[in-house]
Amino acid sequence: AVPVITIDGPTASGKGTVAVLVAKKLGFHYLDSGVLYRLVAMKLVQAGEDGANEAAAVRAAESLDPQFGPEGQVLLEGVDVSADIRADGIGLQASRLAVHPAVRQALNVIQHRARRAPGLVADGRDMGTVVFPDAPLKVFLTASVQARAERRYKQLLEKGFSVKLEKILHDLQERDHRDAGRAIAPLKPAADAFWLDSAGLTIGETVEKVLAAWQQ
Ligand code: CDP
Repeated sequence: AVPVITIDGPTASGKGTVAVLVAKKLGFHYLDSGVLYRLVAMKLVQAGEDGANEAAAVRAAESLDPQFGPEGQVLLEGVDVSADIRADGIGLQASRLAVHPAVRQALNVIQHRARRAPGLVADGRDMGTVVFPDAPLKVFLTASVQARAERRYKQLLEKGFSVKLEKILHDLQERDHRDAGRAIAPLKPAADAFWLDSAGLTIGETVEKVLAAWQQ
């Protein structure tokens, strides 16, 4: 089977950045599964709907046809939405629609298609537990809620969003709570997960630890 490294963890744990660098280093493909949930949220918001509307969310997920540009740009019906899908409100809606089993099923089909030679690094919430349970390396990346809120705050400021730290902290806790508490594919470490706390580590050090675990 094509090898997969899964990197799961809560919001703003640094999993996206780490996953991209590990993929680059190994020459593997990269899957940001959260982008798919964010794209469904974007479609709903554009249609004036809300993540709680299950029927609308399922329709949006089943008709999702994500396209990616040469530099990893995310396109929705030909429009570059790479920046817009990063908004905090979209992340929040994504976590609301991610509780619907039929939405997850539709997105899992797209995720399985990303498993191509020579290998894949996949980040998300359930990559190691549900989507790629046979992955030879399953990383669970965490950090304290405060450290993650500060990281997300800086990221959003850099992207030009106007945000408040308290609001970020509040939204992040709400999202963590929903992602860990849902009945289907809750955020949790796989039984055989490799735990990494990114709080005291630089990105480079975190990447090195994942690569070392992979080479073992
Ligand atoms: O970047 P951040 O960690 O804040 O979020 P994301 O990875 O882009 O995911 C956005 C939301 O999609 C999460 O809060 C989850 O509710 C959902 N998601 C999921 O349920 N399963 C995944 N594999 C990835 C994301």
